[in-house]
This record gives sequence, structure tokens and C-alpha cells, in this order.
Amino acid sequence: MQVFVAGSTGVLGRRLVAGCVECGHEVVGLTRDDHGDELVRERGGEPRRGDVFDRESVVEAATGADVLVHAATAIPTDTRPSDADWERNDRVRREGAENLVAAAEAVDADRLVQQSVVWVARQPDGSRFDETDEPHPNRVTQSALDAERIVERGAEEHGFDSVILRGGWFYAPDTAHTRQFGENLLAGRFPIVGSGLLGRQDATLSFVHVDDAARAFAAAVEGDATGTFHVVDDNPTTLATFLRAFADRLEASEPRRVPGWLARLLMGKASVRLLTNSMPTTNERLREAFDWEPAYPTYREGLDQVVEQWRETDTIRMTGEGYEWTAPSP
Ligand SMILES: NC(=O)c1ccc[n+]([C@@H]2O[C@H](COP(=O)([O-])OP(=O)(O)OC[C@H]3O[C@@H](n4cnc5c(N)ncnc54)[C@H](OP(=O)(O)O)[C@@H]3O)[C@@H](O)[C@H]2O)c1
Repeated sequence: MQVFVAGSTGVLGRRLVAGCVECGHEVVGLTRDDHGDELVRERGGEPRRGDVFDRESVVEAATGADVLVHAATAIPTDTRPSDADWERNDRVRREGAENLVAAAEAVDADRLVQQSVVWVARQPDGSRFDETDEPHPNRVTQSALDAERIVERGAEEHGFDSVILRGGWFYAPDTAHTRQFGENLLAGRFPIVGSGLLGRQDATLSFVHVDDAARAFAAAVEGDATGTFHVVDDNPTTLATFLRAFADRLEASEPRRVPGWLARLLMGKASVRLLTNSMPTTNERLREAFDWEPAYPTYREGLDQVVEQWRETDTIRMTGEGYEWTAPSP
């Protein structure tokens, strides 16, 4: 098959390009600069230039593709994202989805796989949910839900298959957020943010290692099932547990707890909402529909891999004072 990946240079897309090439597919990666071309070529793919905001360029780059994947995002990595940051992300989701649908139609593709986030369906009371539950989007997730609907409608109108993969909280050695967590934990700066007056109510979050997320996308590219699936590990866990386990592996001191109201002053509302709103969900439907199970079933194995890789690649080095970074964040 020929597989077209928008977002081929991102944390998810890089792995997906390599994974699809390994499975014997021809992979075209949408790129925007020389560095992107290099990332796609290194993984055995063919880079083609374009921008998800520029429909013609997407159609041209996707020519010949059997399956299209929209894995482009502009999720802000700033600790205090501005409205403009979120608006750029909204555009990548909505306009990107519209242009991928147009390209799928124009090149007569069989299948379109769209990235989304499990947060769109989190329940207001923080209870466990799955793909059958009514979505409850907020300011940040509304555009993800809109993108899902654009793809579903496009698939129905034009007669191709669609798969919506809603990712849980991504972590991996090479994601900006995981590195930020690691840096702040080592510096003794990352607080456990709880809700309630004293910050003692912990949110339960659904994490997934990006290696496992990318293998879910590769399975959805190859499989026949259609519909919406949650891409998370086997074990939703509290943010406090995740951060303590992370600090422990980094031999950092245990993170302090701060109440949500104080964290909101430091990080802004949207970031605190992400940290304090429970979103426990399950991968049961994904496991049943596709040939997939997580290699990192819980945060324990996943965080072992993150810290191990940082050690092996000399990203962190042990000194008399504990681990330290060998270079600033990329
Ligand atoms: N579910 C989740 O938790 C989730 C999901 C996604 C991302 N994240 C996190 O968000 C952080 C941000 O990562 P990131 O910004 O590097 O995102 P990323 O998901 O790793 O990569 C974004 C991808 O989208 C592409 N892209 C963005 N705008 C585009 C456009 N207009 N046209 C074509 N391609 C476009 C980028 O291309 P260029 O290389 O050309 O910029 C890149 O390939 C990471 O820490 C990641 O873990 C989390």
C-alpha cells in the first residue's frame, strides 16, 4: 500500500513512518523544510513538501496514496500557552481535516485515519468512559471533535473508510512535554497539582507511550475496522502516582503538592485543567478491532524505558549531585 502521513516529522508521525515502512508499505511523509525531509528519509519514507492549510499541496503530495493519516498537530509546548497558540492548534485540526478529506476524495483513497484526543469524551464528573459515551468538549478539545465529525461526514459522502484514533496522554523520551516533566522534576520544580482547597484530590489520567500509540496507528492503517477507538495503556493512574514514579526513576526528590488555585496563577487555566481533570478510559475496543496490545501496559514499564533511553543516549548523566542534563532542551 501507499500510505500518506501528514505530521510525519512529529513524535507520533516519525514512528508511524518507520513502522509502516517496516511492514512493507511505501510511505510518503508531508514535510515543510529540509530537516523534515531528512527525518522522513532516515526512516525509509519519501518526503513531499506541503502544508495542511494548503489544500492543493496536500492533494498533490497524497497522489497515489491508498491510506491517508492526519497526525499533524500544533499542541502548544509552552508552559503558559496563549489563546493564539490554541487557535493555531484548532486550525491544524479543523482545516487540516477538511483538506485531508478533500485529498482522500481527490486521490480516491480507501481509508483516512484521523488523530484525536480522548479528552473530547471525558465525563464532567471524572468517571470512567469509553467510545460510546457522549462527548463533552471544552475550549481546547472542541476542534478535535469538529475534526472527527469533518472526517466522518467526508467518509460518508465520498465513500472511503474512516478511523478516529483518540490518543491519551502521550509520553516518550523525545516528546517536549516528557522532557519538561523530567527537567522540572530534577530541578525540584514540578508540583503535583491537585484540585480541592488544599490540592489533595488527584486526577486519574489515561497515559500511552508514543511507541504504542504509533503501533496503534499502523494497525489502523492496515486493518479493516472503522469507527472511533481510544489509544491508551491498560492502567489509568493518578498524576501524583505518575510523577512520583518518574521522580523516583530520576532519583529526584519527591514532588511537592500545590493546590489548583495556586497552580492556575503559575501555569494558566488550560494547563491546570489538563492536570486536574480525571479522564480514565479503556483500550478494550482498540484491542478487539485491531492486532494491537501495548508493549508498555502501564506507566511503570513506559517510564523505565524513558529514563533508560535518556541514560543510554547520554541525555542525562550521573554526577555527585544526581542526574543532570548533558544539553539544553532541543
Ligand atoms: N495525545 C497527546 O497527548 C498528544 C498528541 C499530540 C502531541 N502531543 C504532545 O504535544 C507536544 C508537541 O509536539 P509537537 O509540536 O512536536 O507535535 P507533534 O505531534 O510531535 O508534531 C506535529 C506534527 O505536525 C506537523 N504540522 C504542524 N503544523 C503543520 C502544518 N500546518 N502543515 C503540515 N504539518 C504540520 C509538524 O510538522 P513540522 O515538523 O514541519 O513542524 C509535525 O510533523 C509533544 O510533547 C507531544 O507529545 C500530545
